[in-house]
Amino acid sequence: MTRLVIVSNRLSLPGSSTQAGGLAVAMREALKERGGLWFGWSGETAEEPDAAPRLVSKGNVTYAAVDLTPDEHRLYYLGFANGTLWPLLHLRLGLMEYRREAARAYGEVNRRFAAMLAPLLRPDDLIWVHDYHLFPLGEELRKLGVKSRIGFFLHTPFPPAEILIALPRHEALLASLSFYDLVGMQTEDCVRAFLHCIVDVAGGVEQADGVYEVRGQTGRVAAFPIGIDTEGFMSLAQRAEHSAETRRLDESLAGRPLVLGIDRLDYSKGIPQRFDAMDALLTDWPEHRRQFNYLQITPHSRGEVAQYRALRREIEGLAGRVNGKFAEFDWSPIRYLNRSFSRPTLAGFLRRSRIGLVTPLRDGMNLVAKEFVAAQNPQDPGVLVLSRFAGAARELTTALLVNPIDIDATAAALHRGLIMPREERIERWSAMMTIIQRNTIDTWRSDFLATLAATPLAGAQPPLRLSA
Ligand code: F6P
Repeated sequence: MTRLVIVSNRLSLPGSSTQAGGLAVAMREALKERGGLWFGWSGETAEEPDAAPRLVSKGNVTYAAVDLTPDEHRLYYLGFANGTLWPLLHLRLGLMEYRREAARAYGEVNRRFAAMLAPLLRPDDLIWVHDYHLFPLGEELRKLGVKSRIGFFLHTPFPPAEILIALPRHEALLASLSFYDLVGMQTEDCVRAFLHCIVDVAGGVEQADGVYEVRGQTGRVAAFPIGIDTEGFMSLAQRAEHSAETRRLDESLAGRPLVLGIDRLDYSKGIPQRFDAMDALLTDWPEHRRQFNYLQITPHSRGEVAQYRALRREIEGLAGRVNGKFAEFDWSPIRYLNRSFSRPTLAGFLRRSRIGLVTPLRDGMNLVAKEFVAAQNPQDPGVLVLSRFAGAARELTTALLVNPIDIDATAAALHRGLIMPREERIERWSAMMTIIQRNTIDTWRSDFLATLAATPLAGAQPPLRLSA
């Protein structure tokens, strides 16, 4: 069997105490079955990083960890990846910053990663690069003579052409993607947006089945909606139901239903709108006052980026305002926590919740939505209130779908979820469960890799001519 090589900015080293985000959890699951090499940033900075990656082996996986210099961390990770690309990909041009120095550092880190990875590669490896930090990595590997199949998966949304063109040198970014043999997106909407950009912005030509030609390169794009380890998460949640933490949570709820939100502190997650929706719910349906608890778990993230610091202040102010308005001496509407919890603890909390509140303004997929569904008790499942702007909404169509900008609509969905009869909850949940049992992390990985393996080696061949 060919070896799988995963490359992602964020690496989750075995035994690391850092909370793994959605991508790292998915990569861990994806590597569990077939093993392979996982190359990426160690999460550490060093003034003089080692010339070769640090190799750590555990089970059938070898980890190759690379440090960033403090400047690379500031310019590549905080600056270009999270100050320029992240807001662009989430349609937040008002929050986007651009500095040439950061764009240059982004290119240089991708070059350095490629140079450190290349000596570790074998000719028949299947290479799978992940996410927006590494758009140009495939092109850099090709420049170093790597001829293996290279696939790329974008975990975030892909923006429409009129947004993408706000990025200086967007043509280079688009062209760099055509060096991959296969580009995977979360949804068909993203595939369409990408092909539209290829044709209208980069002057490429679209052929059948997501195949396109641009600047003499042939590429292919398709949708591969990411899933979770559904069975694994189900049993984790079942086991966690009786854990000490879940019991403590239960005691504090005193029989009231729980509304639960779990999100990194990020402006794409729509947390201020959620707090406003709580305000609207308690104003318009006063009968819910003191009748439920809302727990919002929001670990800090990317705190060195100014926009994230401003968001933190905004959310803290809002939580204070809503609590100040509605709290009583023995109840407060919002419990807002800035810390992270272990996966088993979160699984237990998800199982215990009556409403999963997942209302991002934009999200590639949102795996918490799927974890909420997997964690439910089939006899008495909760209700998922889900933003229609999360990739997950394309699959979980029997959730209560909301436009999170419409605060009153979210409040109405919360009201509906709180009073929804058990039969309707079971019906909606069963339909979602069927879908997440069919589309799992395993099917995602095997579909992507099978499609990549079957793709002709376009990137490694002499450039094809553009059709007329
Ligand atoms: O695609 C976005 C994403 O990579 C998530 O998958 C992940 O949970 C998150 O961003 C982690 O962000 P960071 O690596 O900046 O902490």
